[in-house]
Amino acid sequence: DLCKGVNGLDKVVLREARGSSAEVYLYGGHVTSWKNDHGEELLFVSSKAIFKPPKAIRGGIPICFPQFSNVGTLEQHGFARNKIWTIDTDPPPLPTNPTSKAYVNLILKPSDEDLKIWPHRFEFRLRVALGPGGDLMLTSRIRNTDEKPFSFTFAYHTYFSVSDISEVRVEGLETLDYLDNLQNRERCTEQGDAITFEGEFDKIYLGTPTKIAIIDHEKKRTFVIRKDGLPDAVVWNPWDKKAKAMADFGDEEYKYMLCVESAAIEKSITLKPGEEWKGRQELSAVPSSYCSGQ
Ligand code: BG6
Repeated sequence: DLCKGVNGLDKVVLREARGSSAEVYLYGGHVTSWKNDHGEELLFVSSKAIFKPPKAIRGGIPICFPQFSNVGTLEQHGFARNKIWTIDTDPPPLPTNPTSKAYVNLILKPSDEDLKIWPHRFEFRLRVALGPGGDLMLTSRIRNTDEKPFSFTFAYHTYFSVSDISEVRVEGLETLDYLDNLQNRERCTEQGDAITFEGEFDKIYLGTPTKIAIIDHEKKRTFVIRKDGLPDAVVWNPWDKKAKAMADFGDEEYKYMLCVESAAIEKSITLKPGEEWKGRQELSAVPSSYCSGQ
């Protein structure tokens, strides 16, 4: 269903037969809601989010393309998150076609203005789908439609909703190397324990496994992230000081969110003319069993 969201911006609402749902704004190709079959919201969106171009929506799943962060010549996190995407009515088939009817295909192509700041023609196809169990699947396909190669970095900048950041732990990244964004991207190695949070956190984990878990003790919920084509994972929480410095983020909201972002950052992706890259992220939210400590 295509309908109007905040400030009259177009959004697509996906509903799966068992009750889960998702919302995708054409502005940014941005997922702003993902609810389980009990109607519980699983993504964080700030109460101060500004739904007004060109400011990217604070929360949900912004798409960072063609540049993650401010390393490069473009604006922070690239321009895809603040462009109006269109519905792609006839996308080429994917090997894993959705089993549910709850999906939408979007497309972004550069405008003449975009070509002035990033002179590369591309077609970016994004499919957002809900699986029968309420899983949220995002598939990006980026094709070089230009006559020369180009390179890019990428992230699904996913904001998860958590009950209390101090009670959350992330599993699957221990012992990995990371670049610390708080130390000029210094390269370090994570210790053997699961990751927990006691202050500002901003790291790019490198060469991560395809499965990462966020365990929310208080909610007794585990988010499982499965990814493909995206070797890195960013973990970010702004904590109190940075939260206060962001105009579109509530002062206390850092307690209720955690970004874990499936990404390709350390080694940029290069596409020759005609080549296509694919990056997938699949999210599920499962009740954790108290006894096993999971
Ligand atoms: C994270 C970065 O991915 O995004 C952080 O690692 C950054 O350094 C954060 O602060 C938010 O970025 P923005 O542009 O949405 O405010």
